[in-house]
Amino acid sequence: MLKEIKKTAEWIRTATDRFEPEAGIILGTGLGDFGDRIEAAYTLDYASIPGFPVSTVEGHKGRLIFGTVEGRRVVAMQGRFHYYEGYPMSQVTFPVRVMKLLGIRFLFVSNASGGINPTFRVGDLMVITDHINLMPNPLIGPNLAELGPRFPDMHNCYDKGLIARATAIAEREGIKLQYGVYVGGTGPTFETQAEYRYFKTIGGDAAGMSTVPEVIVARHMGIPCFGVSVITNCGLSDEIGDHEDVQRQGRKAAARMETLFKAMLREL
Ligand code: HPA
Repeated sequence: MLKEIKKTAEWIRTATDRFEPEAGIILGTGLGDFGDRIEAAYTLDYASIPGFPVSTVEGHKGRLIFGTVEGRRVVAMQGRFHYYEGYPMSQVTFPVRVMKLLGIRFLFVSNASGGINPTFRVGDLMVITDHINLMPNPLIGPNLAELGPRFPDMHNCYDKGLIARATAIAEREGIKLQYGVYVGGTGPTFETQAEYRYFKTIGGDAAGMSTVPEVIVARHMGIPCFGVSVITNCGLSDEIGDHEDVQRQGRKAAARMETLFKAMLREL
């Protein structure tokens, strides 16, 4: 496994003239077009990268963009790999490990989720303060000791310093933020009403199908993480979840999400 990760990282270093990103960004729902804000130096289609899986979900492009945003060198994944697509966890998290070897010191993530906290409204941005993992743990299997410990600590999983900075930026920019616990399930079904109630009971504020595997693997390697979720539906209401709604709400939240992420990068 480590050999493949190293091989892919080396291939990318050659393909990008040894571009050294400071931050990795996973452009999920809400940040889909953020790729266009990057002054791109190199763009690599996933399909062209040895060892990379290929993205299949609608609304997700599959490429790795290297460039600068607000003067910061970044590598952005336009399109991520979900467990529900059938990829093993080793593949879902492969790009994060590769990005670490390329030099990232921070990981920024966005996603869509269903609000469970009754004070949340569709279109809100929720800063992820913690998560509950209901998927298989991506670190199951032999530990890659070169990358991190067998039993990684998950305190401060979402970096408190980065969250505080987001709060300051949001106040300054007049962006309303919610805060909460992201419950990561496998999908691809949206939750039943009973499951949303269960997620609320166990301490969740929003339900989604991504992010948790990538963040676990990043924390294993000691990378500070920051995540924001667009609340695209309210799980405990009578409305039914639907992929197109998720995409639409994601697009609506995009401007606020972009402002926040750009300022976060500027102030790293
Ligand atoms: N549940 C899980 N994932 C989601 C949801 C949801 O309600 N909304 C957007 N992604």
